Parts: sequence; structure tokens; C-alpha cells
Amino acid sequence: MKNFIEISRLIKPFKKTISIDGDKSLSIRWALIASQAKGKSRSKNLLKSEDVMNTLNCLKHLGIKNKFSNQYCEIIGNGINGFNYDKRLTLDAGNSGTLARLILGLLVHAKNKIKIKGDKSLSRRDFLRVTKPLKNFGAYFKTKSGKLPIDIIGTNSSKPIKYFEKRGSAQCKSSVMLAALNTKGTTIIKAKKSRNHTELLMKYLGVPIKIESRKKYDLIKIEGLKKNIQPFNYNIPSDISSGAFFLVLTALSKNSNLVIKNININPSRIGILKILKLMGVNIKIQREKKYKGEKIADVSIESQNKIYPINCPKNLNSYAIDEFLLIFLVAAKANGISYFKDLSELNQKESPRLTWGSKILNKMGIKTVLTKDSIKIFGNPNLKINKKIVIKNFLKDHRVFMTCVVAALTFGGKWKIYDKDSVNTSFPSFLRIVKKLNK
Ligand code: S3P
Repeated sequence: MKNFIEISRLIKPFKKTISIDGDKSLSIRWALIASQAKGKSRSKNLLKSEDVMNTLNCLKHLGIKNKFSNQYCEIIGNGINGFNYDKRLTLDAGNSGTLARLILGLLVHAKNKIKIKGDKSLSRRDFLRVTKPLKNFGAYFKTKSGKLPIDIIGTNSSKPIKYFEKRGSAQCKSSVMLAALNTKGTTIIKAKKSRNHTELLMKYLGVPIKIESRKKYDLIKIEGLKKNIQPFNYNIPSDISSGAFFLVLTALSKNSNLVIKNININPSRIGILKILKLMGVNIKIQREKKYKGEKIADVSIESQNKIYPINCPKNLNSYAIDEFLLIFLVAAKANGISYFKDLSELNQKESPRLTWGSKILNKMGIKTVLTKDSIKIFGNPNLKINKKIVIKNFLKDHRVFMTCVVAALTFGGKWKIYDKDSVNTSFPSFLRIVKKLNK
């Protein structure tokens, strides 16, 4: 089957209400933490994407069974530190940085050597950022200059650590938190603010964890578990990072409006909403409710004729880290120059996304000034593309693919975008929802 999509027509005006697939970060965390509970945990609306399937598969190799049906997924946890596996085990994390980095935290007690590998994109990403702190628990790592594949040999006498997470990386923070679960004593983490799903889940499960919120940092203290976590049921809220494609699609389309139901609006994930609002986009949040520490609501948005440029406040960076490609598209339509800074982390994603963001805009005819960690975007509110644009060789980065689809449907031009199957990493129903809106 052809693995590209061709788009040469703008999306038709739409007025629709949609639902989005389950949150990727929460799906992976639910599975990893359920694997440490003693007994059967159940989730509803678990994201059925490759990253999550790879998580279940890795856990299966570690002796943790799961059962999948259309309605739910069950994991039979074997208690804290209860992995059971063959010697010379290799785990394949596929494309998922979250899986590879978080599972390393659970493996600081691995009795026998385990190898972790990943696909081409994951194999170029930095793992020293997790092996460095995890080493201090007492585990041993062999890496190829900080990249996958990595061998890990755990320790049976781990010691709690003090760790300062300076990047605003939820993956690094969570990896250390998972290692701390299994370690006697109190691990202390000073972490630059980032998404806090692991903290909320651990709190909900009664893990001895204390969190002090400071202006720029959180101080997290976790005591190693003395007894097992109880198995737990969890209804995964919809993913705002997936919903964001449709929020931006609506904002940039003509005469359209959209409601997304029951989406996770955890304050550490809504940088996109705050940034869009600063750019003059009209967004409403309704029917807000709490779910096991998370916040859920319906989000509505409409087409926006006038978009303002932004000097993006860098304290929003980690709260919008997966949405910048889309935010750059919005800046392309702004009435002036937008500036995004302190974003070197973007080049550490599934593809070098700061570079790709700039490349896509240049192909569209938008001028940019790119540095190692910043981008200036010279917006053009009258931009209409008439030429042919081909997008390929982007390391199958799912967010590059979906961003280009949004660009093609809103700015015009004749687009050919390769690696269509990349949507299966995080948002398998993406193209079906596009079709539904374009009827
Ligand atoms: C994630 C954290 C972020 C994000 C990724 C998911 C998580 O990565 O980009 O898609 O689930 O913890 P970093 O921790 O590297 O910023």
C-alpha cells in the first residue's frame, strides 16, 4: 500500500464535536505502574498505538501478562520488583523515548543483564540523561556514547539518591521516580517544571510521596515502597497533544468550529492553549471535572481571522513541548514576527523538530531565522501556497507528518507527505478524524 498522502485542496468548513484517542503519556505510565502492583489492574480508553503496544510487549517479556479487548486492557502485576524473565533478554522500545527512559527506572533492580534497543529515530536520542542519575542508585549501564542499544545490570542493594533535573524533562524525572519506588529510603528530586502525571498517579495510589511546588522547580520526595501497590482501574483521558492538531486545524481554517470532548487539561499540558490564547485565538473550556488528580474538560475553538505574533514566554516551553511544530504553523499566519527561544530540547525529539519546523515553514514560503535553540518566524496573514511541496526523510516523526497534513489543509498548495504510517506511533485515528471533518 502507498505510504504517503497527497493533499491539494483546503478543508471544507466544518462544525463538529469529536473525541480523541487516549493520552500517550498516561497510557504508558498506567501500564508501567500497573506492572508493579500486585494483581489485576484494568484501564479503559488505553491508547492503541505502537508506543503503547511496545510498552505492553516489553512488560510481557518481563513476565507481566496483559489481556486486551475492545473495551479495556488488563495487566496482571507481579508486585514491586516482580519481573521475571529469561537470561539475555532484549527489549525493543520501538520509537518511544517515554517507554525506553521510564522502563530503565524500573530496571535498576534487574537481576540479569537486559538490553534495550529502539528504532532509527530512538537510536539517535540521548540516554545519558537517564543513565547518569540511575547509575547513582547502583545500577550498571553499558551504552554506545549515551545512545541505544543500552545494556543494564541492576543492583539488589540500591541506595536513594538526590537528583537535580534541570531540563524540564518529565521522562528523566519519571524514570528516577520509578527507580525510587523500589529503593529503601527517601529519594529527593529537584525538578524543573514539566508534565506531572507520574506524581499524580503515585499520589492517587498512596505511594509515600511529598511534592513542594516552588516557582520554577518542584521538590519531590519519594520513600521506597514498604508494601505493594494495590491494583487499580484507570480511565485514560484523551490526549491534548493529539487534540492540538485539530485545535490548530480549526483555528487556521475558514468558518469552522470544533468541540473536543473530555480532553486532559492537566495544567502541565496546556501550554498550547495558553500560547494560542496569547496569539488571539478564541478557546473555551467547559464542563471541567477532576479525575484521579487529572483535570478533564470539553475544549471548543473557532476559526481565527486575525492572529497576533508572540514573543513566547519560555516558562511555557515544557508545558507545550510536543506542540511547537503546530504553534510554528500558527505563527506563520500571524501579523508580524514571532520569537521562540530556549528550545534546544526540541531537537532531541523523534526528529530534530526545531530544524524541521523551520524547514516546513521555508518550503511554505515563510522566512525564518533559526539558531541552535531558537526560531524567529516572519508571519504572513495573507499566505496562500500555490506550489508543490514534498515532505520526506523526517525519521518518521509522527508529529512532523500530522503537522504537514494540517498545513496542507489550511494553507493550500499541492502536498505529498511521506511516511503516513507514522501516525500509528501516537494517534492511529488521526486521518479518520480528518476525513470525518472534511465530509
Ligand atoms: C513525555 C515527556 C516529554 C514529551 C514526550 C512525552 C512523557 O519528553 O516530549 O512526548 O510522557 O514524559 P521529555 O521528558 O524529553 O521532555
